[in-house]
Amino acid sequence: MENKKKVIFSGIKPSGDLTLGNYLGAIKNWVKLQDEYDCYFCVVDLHAITVQQLPADVRRRTLEILAIYIAAGIDPEKNTLFIQSHVPAHSEASWLLTCNAYMGEMSRMTQYKDKAQKGGESIGAGLFNYPILMAADVLLYGTDLVPVGKDQVQHLELARDLAERFNRLYSPTFVVPEPYVAKTGAKIMDLQDPTKKMAKSEENPNGSIQLMDPPEVIRRKVSRAVTDSLGVVKFIDEQPGVKNLITILSTITGETIEEIENKYEGMGYAQFKTDVAEAIVSELEPIQNKVKELLNNKTYLESIYKAGAEKANYVSMKTLRKMQKKIGLIPVAK
Ligand code: AMP
Ligand code: TRP
Repeated sequence: MENKKKVIFSGIKPSGDLTLGNYLGAIKNWVKLQDEYDCYFCVVDLHAITVQQLPADVRRRTLEILAIYIAAGIDPEKNTLFIQSHVPAHSEASWLLTCNAYMGEMSRMTQYKDKAQKGGESIGAGLFNYPILMAADVLLYGTDLVPVGKDQVQHLELARDLAERFNRLYSPTFVVPEPYVAKTGAKIMDLQDPTKKMAKSEENPNGSIQLMDPPEVIRRKVSRAVTDSLGVVKFIDEQPGVKNLITILSTITGETIEEIENKYEGMGYAQFKTDVAEAIVSELEPIQNKVKELLNNKTYLESIYKAGAEKANYVSMKTLRKMQKKIGLIPVAK
């Protein structure tokens, strides 16, 4: 028991086509963690429906994300890969946690506040509750570490608060999870507006590179990326566009920021942009080919998410039963 590996849980929601930000900020880091940890990687479909989605899009993207996980190098034999809605304990635990969450703390979630500002009165209640479902995802598996981009750290704080509160109100039940934010790639910015993060739902399609974009589209988007008139490749706040491209290059090639700055000294932006585009293409192209292959083999994908759900159901149900019992719910008669 002492040698038990630490547990990792993370997920991506099928609410839009995945971007280079999702890949560099999340998936690429997961690949590095799979040997050292006991990992659960989930396609969080219940999170995607917090905003209206076309059913066909949800279906297509859910399988595509699963295929991307595998194509990017996450070994389905070593890790538990599953689809959130196949494991009912997530929804049930989410309700139990909702009853111990405060309106005040939920109202302080910046992602919700941003969306509420835009949505007004008709903003969905699911968007308000969503961080509690995310806490349930993580807490059900005794998760120690949650690898996410910077934008999710506040949600993780809430998960910690809810875990500690439950442990205090009843008795120690949950491991209190820690966020795990990688040093590079934690926040990839929009290519057209480098003050905003590169997001799935971006209205301006030139601002975000999609994981499945063909090479010529990637090259075009990078060549049109906003830079500035300074003409030097430097990692400074005055040049948010260039800074972002340096981050992308460094995260892909592993070169340090100084190495990149030195390499392009006195060279302007043309060669730099070409190299950034080629680095992205050579990173993504093999993954894209593998994804296409996997999507043609639905039987294989099905066998992966079936096995994943079995394992996830087993582990999460044990935690859910504990929660129910501690709260005072009568166990189901055998
Ligand atoms: P989402 O697209 O919100 O479902 O995010 C899925 C995962 O990708 C989370 O771990 C995010 O933190 C990460 N992520 C999303 N966008 C970016 C970005 N622009 N830069 C880095 N990480 C990101
Ligand atoms: N909320 C996360 C996002 O928008 C996705 C997510 C749902 C998640 N549940 C999770 C991430 C559990 C890590 C762990 O990116």
